Parts: sequence; C-alpha cells; structure tokens
Amino acid sequence: MSTRSLNILLTGGTGYIGSHTAVVLQEAGHRVFIYDNYCNSDPAVAQTLQKITGQPFKTIEGDIRNTDLLQKTLETNHIDAVIHFAGLKAVGESATIPVEYYANNVQGTISLLQAMQAASHRPRTLVFSSSATVYGDPQYLPIDESHPTAATNPYGRTKLHIEEILRDLAKSDVSWRIACLRYFNPVGAHVSGLIGENPNGIPNNLMPFVAQVAVGKLKQLNVFGNDYDTPDGTGVRDYIHVMDLAEGHLAALNYLGAALAAEVVTNTETQTHTGLHTFNLGTGCGYSVLEMIQAFEAASAKAVPFLIAPRRAGDIASCYASTTLAAEQLGWTAKRDLKAMCESSWHFQQKAAASAGSNSNTTAGA
Ligand code: NAD
Ligand code: UD1
Repeated sequence: MSTRSLNILLTGGTGYIGSHTAVVLQEAGHRVFIYDNYCNSDPAVAQTLQKITGQPFKTIEGDIRNTDLLQKTLETNHIDAVIHFAGLKAVGESATIPVEYYANNVQGTISLLQAMQAASHRPRTLVFSSSATVYGDPQYLPIDESHPTAATNPYGRTKLHIEEILRDLAKSDVSWRIACLRYFNPVGAHVSGLIGENPNGIPNNLMPFVAQVAVGKLKQLNVFGNDYDTPDGTGVRDYIHVMDLAEGHLAALNYLGAALAAEVVTNTETQTHTGLHTFNLGTGCGYSVLEMIQAFEAASAKAVPFLIAPRRAGDIASCYASTTLAAEQLGWTAKRDLKAMCESSWHFQQKAAASAGSNSNTTAGA
C-alpha cells in the first residue's frame, strides 16, 4: 500500500513521552514539529533530539490555549496529523488547583480542536494522550477498554471530559480520525540516555523516585503500603517502556490511515479508520513495588533503601491492561522487558546527574 511522509505536530513534544515519540516518528520518515510552552520541559530538548536523530526539529513556543497561534502553526507547516501530549499531569496538584487543570487540559484541548477546525487545509487526524487513571479502582483485571470509567481526581476527570468531547466531535463530523490512547505506567528512557524522565523537585511517581535514590540524590524510598491484596502486599502496576509507548503512537497513526497517499484513501475498513478509537497501551504484566525495587537494584548494581510507609491516599491495589485490542487492531505490542526499562532509566539517571553537575541540562523534564 502506498504511503507518504507526514507533517506531524506534537503538542507537549518536549515532554517525557512526546520527546521519545518525536524520535520514533522522525526515524519512521515523518517530519516532526513541536509545540510547547515549556511549563514542564526544557527548550534544549529539541537540540538533544536533533543530536539523537541527526535531523533538525522545528519548535514553536506557545500555549495550546493560543488558538490563533495554533491555527497559524497548522497552516504554515501543512500539518497532516496532531499528537496531543500537552497537559498538566500531577494527580496531587490537580486536587489543589483544579481550575488550572481544567483550563490547561480541557480548555487547551478545545482550543486545539478549534484551531484544527479553522485551519484551511482541514487537518482531521488526532492522537490523544489519555490515561489508565480514567478506569479508577478496577472492577476486574486485566482492564479492557470496555471497563467502566470513573476517575477519582481532577486530573483524571480532565482526561474523561476530553475523551467525551472527542467522542462528540467524531460523531458530529465523520471526517475526523481520532485515537485515544490510555497509557498505563510509562517508565525508562531512550537508549542514548540523552532523554528521559527528569521531574522537577521530589518525584511523585515510583520509578523516578527509585532512580534518584539509587543515584544518591534522595536518601530512601517510602513504599506506600504493604497490606494490599497483592502477592507481596505492595501495589501492582503495568509499567511500560516509554519507547514501546512511543511506537504505539506510530501504530495508531498508521491505523487511522494518516500516512496513506491521498489517492488511495477511500475510507474502507482496511485502509483508514474514521471516528474515535480507544486503545490501552500497556504490557499486560503487573509488577509490585518490591519487584520494581529489586529489578532496579539488579540493573544499577546500587542499593535502593526503603521504608514501609502508610498507604498513599487515592492509590489502588492492582492495575494492569488487557492488550488484546491494541494487538489485534494496531498490530502493536510492547516488546521491551522490565530489565530494559530499569537499565535505560538508570543510564539516563546517571547522565542527568552528571549533566546537572556540569550545569548543562539537556533532558526532558516530566
Ligand atoms: P510532561 O509533563 O513531560 O509533558 C507534557 C508537555 O506539555 C511538557 O513539555 C509541557 O511543557 C507541555 N505543556 C503543558 N501544558 C501546556 C500548554 N498549555 N501549552 C503548551 N504546552 C504545554 O508529561 P508526559 O509524561 O510526557 O505526559 C504527556 C501526556 O501523557 C500528558 O497529557 C499526560 O497527562 C499523559 N499521561 C502521562 C502519563 C505518565 O505517567 N507520564 C500517564 C498517562 C497519561
Ligand atoms: C500515578 C497516578 C495516576 C497517573 C500515573 C502516571 C496517583 C494516585 N495516580 O499512578 O493517575 O496516571 O501516576 O503518571 O497519583 N509508590 C511508592 N512510593 C513512591 C511512589 C509510588 O510506594 O514514592 C507506589 C504507589 O503506591 C503505587 C506504585 O508505586 O503502588 C506506582 O505509583 P506511581 O508511579 O505514582 O503510579 P500510579 O500510582 O500507578
């Protein structure tokens, strides 16, 4: 089947997942344009991406709530497809400043959709970063895409609201092709060690915390509860290598038929998929907190001291994905194992610590 190279806009493209996806898309022969306001990332990431791929990346500094700038960006660069990563993502913070979360995530997405609708060349292909958090406390495992949704915090509710907006949009106009990707727990880094997850301040999520303990930046990890109904009592999650996740975006674009040459686009089932399509991106495997610590210690040859602490409010016991739909429809499954996740994360952490020491930050903040 004849395909063409696409111009793809990544909102939030200098962030953790966006930067890894930028590499995958550029290496697949597409042209990547990054739109970011750098509220949680470093502009220098674009140069790092260029170093990794050997190709330049065009970056546009802007907020997704700036509809005019987005429309201009779409038109000037003849954007064919948008991958919408931009958003605020800290669960705890979302409960403290919910209005900012709704404004940034929901209003920002509406602004993006308005810009796409207004753009004269009618870009209608969109991939959206959703989250497994929309499932709330799982009623059954593994979680498939038909599992009821019930977000338990403002961050999760922004994702649910956006999913509903996208569903209404796809129903209202059949020319839209939208993939809604529900990520499980992304971890790890690009093999170069040049981009990865490097959150500002004390990390909220397990793996960046573990990595910072191993490198000596933090003293010890608090394990939030060992009395869950899981094999070792600690929380179980579906950790997925960020490069596998990045490849899932390419698979989603292909599924939507974004790269089909214009002359073969006929809207048949086999060639292109209009409407809204929702997929889990996970591995289907659950690992406990203690298993993650052990795997990281093995990969880094460093001890990760920890204390058992009380449960964290809002946490669930276990969460892992059914991967059947993505495998069948997208032809995508995660390939990298836990060892690769921990080794790449450790490689990145060491480089990040060294570059922080020499005061040159070229990492993706997350
Ligand atoms: P990240 O914070 O590293 O990246 C988000 C990027 O968006 C940052 O570069 C930030 O500067 C930018 N941004 C935020 N608000 C913006 C705005 N108003 N205008 C322009 N740019 C803006 O986060 P990430 O981990 O790469 O996550 C990407 C997406 O995936 C987010 O939507 C997040 O909610 C979702 N997600 C992430 C995870 C995870 O664990 N990392 C899990 C599920 C879903
Ligand atoms: C969290 C968010 C979720 C979001 C996801 C990815 C909450 C309640 N949920 O999920 O909405 O989509 O991040 O960004 O914040 N743990 C420790 N010690 C720590 C940190 C974590 O023991 O210092 C444990 C947790 O209790 C959990 C596991 O490690 O069992 C994973 O935690 P985390 O990395 O924060 O991810 P989630 O809780 O799955």
